[in-house]
Amino acid sequence: MDKLRENWGSKLGFILAAAGSAVGLGNIWRFPYLAGENGGAAFIFVYILCVLVIGIPVLVAEILIGRTTQKNPVGTFKQLGKTKFWIAIGGMGVAAGFIILSFYSVVAGWTLGYIYEAISGNLMQYNLPDVTNSHFTALIQNPVWIISMHGIFMLLTMSVVFFGVQKGIELGSKIMMPLLFVLLIALMIRGLTLEGASKGLEYLFYPDWSKINMKVILNALGQAFFSLSLGMGAMLTYGSYMSKKDNIPSAAIWVAFLDSAIAIIAGVCIFTVVFATGQNPDAGPSLIFRTLPVVFTKITGGYIFSIIFFIALSLAALTSTVSLLEVVSAYFVDEKGWSRKNAVLLFGLMIFIIGIPSALSFSVLSGFTLFDKSFFDLTEFLSSNLMLPIGGFFISIFVGWIWDFEKVIENIKPGAEKIFMKYSWIFIGWKLILKYLAPVLIFIVLLSSIGII
Ligand code: PHE
Repeated sequence: MDKLRENWGSKLGFILAAAGSAVGLGNIWRFPYLAGENGGAAFIFVYILCVLVIGIPVLVAEILIGRTTQKNPVGTFKQLGKTKFWIAIGGMGVAAGFIILSFYSVVAGWTLGYIYEAISGNLMQYNLPDVTNSHFTALIQNPVWIISMHGIFMLLTMSVVFFGVQKGIELGSKIMMPLLFVLLIALMIRGLTLEGASKGLEYLFYPDWSKINMKVILNALGQAFFSLSLGMGAMLTYGSYMSKKDNIPSAAIWVAFLDSAIAIIAGVCIFTVVFATGQNPDAGPSLIFRTLPVVFTKITGGYIFSIIFFIALSLAALTSTVSLLEVVSAYFVDEKGWSRKNAVLLFGLMIFIIGIPSALSFSVLSGFTLFDKSFFDLTEFLSSNLMLPIGGFFISIFVGWIWDFEKVIENIKPGAEKIFMKYSWIFIGWKLILKYLAPVLIFIVLLSSIGII
């Protein structure tokens, strides 16, 4: 059975696919609005620090346990952790894949719908914030629109995962990631050449240190986890298709670098145009759907750039949804002996169905709330704020405390021999972070998520 398991065709294959998982709505939709709400440059500074100090070490740990076992999250913890408790942690990752994908695909569907809005010229008619607002609200309150966009996005996701690791995910990432990069660079150049762009840059890059407080730090760490796809086994599963020749630390640094670079480029694209046209940076989650369309009507070439923007966003989202569905499929393929094609079809359909209440949270089901949250908010909160940090916490504990450090080193060494010879102290620092710093900080984030602190 193991022999049939696929591997990445090349080292670049892993890096592009993993960067594809990491780069998504988290970078282009969530990062800019969080930066906007949390004081701009100060938030970005704390965010980068979180990626460097916690994100990369946990990312290395997650990829490492996947590559060691060459299995999905449940299989990995069965082999390494052995007890029911650890297997359940793997199971929570698979469940998180279901839940995150169900609401993520709804938002990804909006981006797809907005490609049409942009191409049809609809967006160009909305040059006042109030009008874009009501247009956006009308769309997300339309059950047919929102469910069909979510459905189409799930179909696109399924069609990539259907073709497997090399012919689906790797090939797809090799096409989509460079395209995304080119589109974002084009947008960035447009933003930078606008009169008044420097105000946006100032907002992004000149920190006002007085803005840093506990909330900013917590948001930054939570965002680092979400953006690096940590804590639910996506990176573990992608790591399981790596070979012993690949260098895990260097691949992890590449992925984190590309992820952060794209978040910052997206920030530049968005804030240069937002400031140049005198809009507010702190519009929150609807920043790109309500604020940006107004901006596009005010700049030369706005029509073309609005199309480019929403295509870029959909591509970024697609390489992320693919990684979420892959976790679920890998579990059923490895552990339950399903064929990949059946797993993709059945679970793709199931996730589509689970996503429907999230999609309807803005209309028919808006009155249905639990703990004061709609179904959409609840699934987002449960997965991003609870399941991912809990998963990350236990991955750190597992590699830091439970797994023999000798075994850890024996498994991380292949492919990274050179780093070992020259900088073996890095691995000691890494171990200390996984043992103490990461679990403590993540624990604090968790407590704050559930409102205890
Ligand atoms: N990292 C993705 C993004 O930034 C979201 C994601 C989270 C994907 C967890 C997979 C797993 O959009």
